[in-house]
This record gives sequence, structure tokens and C-alpha cells, in this order.
Amino acid sequence: MFVKKDRLARLLQVGVEINQIADLDLLLEKVLSEARKLLDADAGSIYIKEDDKLKFSHAQNETLRKKLGPDKKLIYTTFSMPINNKSIAGFVANNGVTLNIKDAYKISDTLSYSFDGSYDKLSGYHTQSMLTIPMKNSRAEIIGVLQLINKHDDKGNIISFLKEDEPIVRHFAIYAANAIERAQMTRTTIMRMISMAELRDPKETGAHVNRVAAYAVEIYEAYAKKKKIPQDKIDVQRDSLRMAAMLHDVGKVAISDLILKKPAKLTDEEFKVMQHHTIIGAQLFIDARSDFDEQSAEVALNHHEKWDGSGYPGYVDFVTEKSLPGHTNKEGLPLGKKGKEIPLLGRIVAIADVYDALCSKRVYKEAWDKEKALQIIREESGKHFDPELVEIFFDILDVINSVSERYPDEELE
Ligand code: C2E
Ligand code: SIN
Ligand code: SIN
Ligand code: SIN
Ligand code: FE
Ligand code: FE
Repeated sequence: MFVKKDRLARLLQVGVEINQIADLDLLLEKVLSEARKLLDADAGSIYIKEDDKLKFSHAQNETLRKKLGPDKKLIYTTFSMPINNKSIAGFVANNGVTLNIKDAYKISDTLSYSFDGSYDKLSGYHTQSMLTIPMKNSRAEIIGVLQLINKHDDKGNIISFLKEDEPIVRHFAIYAANAIERAQMTRTTIMRMISMAELRDPKETGAHVNRVAAYAVEIYEAYAKKKKIPQDKIDVQRDSLRMAAMLHDVGKVAISDLILKKPAKLTDEEFKVMQHHTIIGAQLFIDARSDFDEQSAEVALNHHEKWDGSGYPGYVDFVTEKSLPGHTNKEGLPLGKKGKEIPLLGRIVAIADVYDALCSKRVYKEAWDKEKALQIIREESGKHFDPELVEIFFDILDVINSVSERYPDEELE
């Protein structure tokens, strides 16, 4: 429970914090958890406007999450709904008004909107009080809807949202809307860089990089929790890891179409050229100014190293492209990095990238079925991959599966 003065201080602090988050998914998570904390709401959702629809983009539910046990994540599926006056969120987006509803199941028949209780039925949850507000950007355009559910009093009883909660959460929504818009722009910029880089159908690329990034973030978070790394450090790291992971193959910008799009197995010579994408990627971030640049270079350079030392590019100075003294074989070629010599983020993205590459159709191969892909990941534990991270990957397989559902491949033709 926040008293008023603390609330104001917290609001200012959150404004600063959310402005430091660059990634959209992480931002939605932060916005929702802070809004829930401010108003003691048990659950909540964020809908983002996409074209003429509202996309259900993020959900939290403390009661359902607690039932799952410690450190487990709530799994939800995304869906889109039309912006019209029939649903609560649709009404709010359509009219730009706040709806403060005492009991979702007692909405008057005279109103155009009603509550969709199908999720309650599925989950066994009981929605009661709901505060649903439009998120408007600085040009007063509606970019989405923030919905808070089941306000609690000090004893944990469900109560209605107060009239005085409304301006607080509206103010908060202004910060959130501006930050979300910025994050959407960052993501668009990154996606443009990537589609330029991969010189492929951007549809294929978009889903692949989103999944690789989301898998990497989930693996990292589970690993960091296991190592008892404090949550605020985890949050900062997740944010830059996600973008770094999205850019893991950005060095493919320099690889010719003839190789990149070759619908057959590469020759040894061609594969040598292809391997260069790791070094080129790292070079794009040479004047690293931020943690984000540094991590992007680290991921690009190290995502094809293998735990047993048989990966590439190995011990090279990525600026000069020379092998590092003392780390060469008899022919003077660089040795591969081995085990924990490979930076953590490289080891994480390796698993994420290969798993997704195996499950996806490529110009040079068909998609493998999931079971077979999982079997490879398991078999390669201690060979290609860090065994501890493989174990974590299997621990969070339900989360991994929900990520792949969230970013489906668009039809390729
Ligand atoms: P990618 O398609 O994103 O694949 C990433 C990594 O996933 C590969 O790294 C490899 O470790 C794994 N992988 C993908 N498909 C398979 C598969 O069918 N079997 C197995 N066992 N592993 C697989 P790798 O090999 O270092 O390749 C790096 C990149 O080089 C690939 O990225 C792709 O862009 C390109 N590439 C690799 N092989 C070929 C090929 O035969 N033809 C073409 N056109 N491109 C290739
Ligand atoms: C959650 O925090 O409940 C889910 C996180 C995510 O899906 O991004
Ligand atoms: C709605 O806003 O109508 C959807 C609410 C929900 O089902 O959670
Ligand atoms: C504000 O205008 O209240 C803050 C929004 C922002 O800085 O993005
Ligand atoms: Fe790669
Ligand atoms: Fe890749």
C-alpha cells in the first residue's frame, strides 16, 4: 500500500526508470507491474493498437502466477480484437475514455460493452473490479489500453478502484505511452537494420530475430535467478541482451546474396566467407559507446563458438582480424574459444539461434520438427553448448514454447 506522498515520489521514479528501457516487451512488463503496484491491482493487461485492431500484448496475474510456484512465469497467448464499442478495451480505445467498473459480471445491459468471461472460465480466475484507461501519446493519439484488474485492500480483499486512482494512472499512462512509442521506434529501426543486413525476405527475418532474442532473454533470466543476481541488474541486462540478440547476424550485411541465398549446401570456400559474419558484426559496434553496443559486439562475435572449442571465429582481434598470440594452432590459425572462455551472452545466443534455425525453414533446408530439434540441443550439450545452459533451457521449455507461439513465421512463398 502506498500513501499519497510515497506514491508521488514513486511515480516520478518510475517515469525515470521506464525512460531508460529501450525494448518494447520489457517496457510493457515494467509499465504493467508498476501500475499494478501503484494501485494494488492483482492483475492487468496491456493492449497495443496495431492498424485498426487492438492486440493483447502483455498480461500479468499475481494470483494465477502464485499457483504456479516460485519463479514460474505466467503463460498467455496473444490475440487481436476489433476496436469497437462491444468490448471494454475496445470501447476505451474507441472513445478515449476511462472505464472504472465495480464488477465485471454486473455490467448493465443498457451499455454497449460487456465483459468477456472466457479467460476467467479457462483459468479459474474471478475478475471483479476493473480500471481500463486509454494510453495516449503526446499528440493525443490513442496507442493502446491499460487495464488493471481486482484492486486489493490491506487485507487482500477485492475492492473497487477509487475515483482518485484514475488521474494517477492516467498520468502514468502518459509516460508509458511516450516510452512505448519510443520503444516501437527503436524496434522498427533495429528491424530495418536487420532486414537490410540479412538481404532476405524480411518476414522470415523478423520472426526469427524476435524469437532468438526472446529465447535468449528467458534463458538469461533463469540463469541469473539461479545465480542469485539481483533483479534490478537482471532487468538492465535483459534490456540490452534482447537488442544484442536481435542483431546477432547483422554482419550478414556484408555477405553476398549468392552465398546467403544459395538454396543448397555451401562449399568449404563459401562457408569460410559466411563465417566472417561474426567478425563483421562485431566491427559494426567498434566505437562502443554503451553497454548495448558492447554486448551487441560480444554476441555477434561469439554466437558461433562451441563449448568444446570447435566453433568460430575463435581467438581473433575483431578490429585487426589477426589471431591472438598464444592462441593459434600449428598453422597459425586462431583456436576456438572453449567452455567459459566464451562469454556468457555468446553461449546463450548459440542455443537460442540453433534451436530456432533448426525449427525454421531456410532457403537451404526444411524446418525440422520440434522433437528432433530438441534432441539435437540435448545431444550437443557439452559439445556445441554449455551443459548448464542446456539444462536451464529444458527447465523453461514451457516458456520457450510460448515464445515461439508469440512470434509465428509469416507464410513464406
Ligand atoms: P542460420 O541458418 O541462422 O543457422 C544458425 C546455426 O544453426 C548454424 O550455424 C548451425 O549451427 C545451426 N543449424 C542450422 N541448420 C542446421 C541443420 O540443418 N543441421 C544442423 N546440425 N545445424 C543447423 P552455422 O552452421 O555456423 O551457419 C551459420 C550461417 O551460415 C547459417 O545461419 C546460414 O545463414 C549459413 N549457412 C550454413 N549452412 C548453409 C548452407 O548449407 N547453405 C546456405 N545457403 N547457407 C548456410
Ligand atoms: C511476465 O513477466 O509475467 C511475462 C514476461 C514476458 O512474457 O515477457
Ligand atoms: C475486455 O476488455 O473486454 C476484455 C477483458 C478481459 O477479458 O480480460
Ligand atoms: C511526460 O511527458 O510526462 C514524460 C514522457 C516522456 O518523457 O517520455
Ligand atoms: Fe550467425
Ligand atoms: Fe541466426
